[in-house]
Amino acid sequence: MIKLASSFAAIAALLPLVSAQQSVWGQCGGNGWTGPTTCVAGTVCQYSNPWYSQCLPSSSATGPVTSSPPPSSTVSSSSSVGGGGGGGGGATPTISGGLPGATGTQKLNTVAKSAGKTYFGTATDNSELSDSAYIAILNDGTMFGQITPANSMKWDATEPSRGSFTFTQGDQIANLAKSNGQLLRGHNCVWYNQLPSWVSSGGFNAATLSSIVTTHCSTVVGHYKGQTYAWDVINEPFNDDGTWRTDVFYNTLNTSYVPLALNAARTADPATKLYINDYNVEYAGAKSTALQNLVKSLKSAGTPLDGVGLQYHMISGSMPGGLASNIQAFTSLGVEVAITELDIRMTLPPTAAKYAQQKTDYQTVISACKSVTGCIGITIWDWTDKYSWVPSTFSGQGAACPWDATYLKKPAFDGIVAGLG
Ligand code: G3I
Repeated sequence: MIKLASSFAAIAALLPLVSAQQSVWGQCGGNGWTGPTTCVAGTVCQYSNPWYSQCLPSSSATGPVTSSPPPSSTVSSSSSVGGGGGGGGGATPTISGGLPGATGTQKLNTVAKSAGKTYFGTATDNSELSDSAYIAILNDGTMFGQITPANSMKWDATEPSRGSFTFTQGDQIANLAKSNGQLLRGHNCVWYNQLPSWVSSGGFNAATLSSIVTTHCSTVVGHYKGQTYAWDVINEPFNDDGTWRTDVFYNTLNTSYVPLALNAARTADPATKLYINDYNVEYAGAKSTALQNLVKSLKSAGTPLDGVGLQYHMISGSMPGGLASNIQAFTSLGVEVAITELDIRMTLPPTAAKYAQQKTDYQTVISACKSVTGCIGITIWDWTDKYSWVPSTFSGQGAACPWDATYLKKPAFDGIVAGLG
């Protein structure tokens, strides 16, 4: 024991121990890790994978907690995993399937902010949050500064029967964002899909459906008042040829449901940014033009609208040209743009050549956003292939995310970093 009255030198000897405690979100273990293995007060060192343990707030930690170096693994010890550490690249690691992985160890939100963007984020879903290795990476606010619930704020989840609202699942995501210090994107108010049949087949007249839309958007956006950065108020209103999608909203209300929902959202939360979000509007064409015309008409009518979400569900090797000028076409109308649902799929199985192409494609998209000031942030539609929506929707397609299904970073990760550089 050291007596309190002992010399300055003895006290000074304690300082390295104090400063050796890792701060929240920092690395605290992993193969080859020589830094601190204990965390500051209020945080715990949580094992994520053999190469990475991280200091998490005690409130958000799940699963095994350790300050000891993690066990060895069957995967190559040169692999680059999960959150990674600081610094640049290294030798090319091998990941699942014996394929080359990423070399970068940067944190994407940190890199995005350095590039002048507001955030780099990811979609997530409630069913994924019981996966402790997944959540350890998701919770890293330096990697993901923003999250979007993939399903739990949609109409079928929040108002499954008329006037009966449920927010348990949505709140889980909102609370996660809050505890991680991440921005939250609300997704979505009005969409033809994942719409309960009481709405789509209710046979309501225009006055009643107007009231239903207003109530839904007011209640859902109002419930999350002060908690969201932005809301996808209107989702996917157009067909690919630029005509209006003939869903129950358009068929009953014509285009009036758009300002109706936007005004309801603005009243419910004056601070959140109101977006229209769609796919196949990432490049010039009839659908992008239709969306630009809608933005113009809403702006000239004084309807509240802050942004346009370009989803970016893309196909590797088929990247259209003119991405930056298309983004610019929207920002020049006085709205911000966000890349809201980025993934780049390929025909399975992946190969080294396909991963290399995907890396190039990710870089192309990200650098387009980087080059336009009004493109404020990027969200990937989940970060790991384990939970991607693609394989269940496009038979034989997948591997669309920057991390593989075992949470190892693919070359696409390096493409993102390069695009932000
Ligand atoms: O919750 C049920 C579960 O109870 C049931 O056992 C299971 C059986 O299939 O289905 C579950 O629902 C699924 C839901 O995701 C939650 O996992 C639906 O079948 C499935 O269709 C649904 O897919 C979602 C899809 O939107 C629906 O269109 C994806 O997770 C979600 O990532 C995807 O996201 C959309 C954006 O909202 C809008 N832009 C396109 C994007 C990709 O499709």
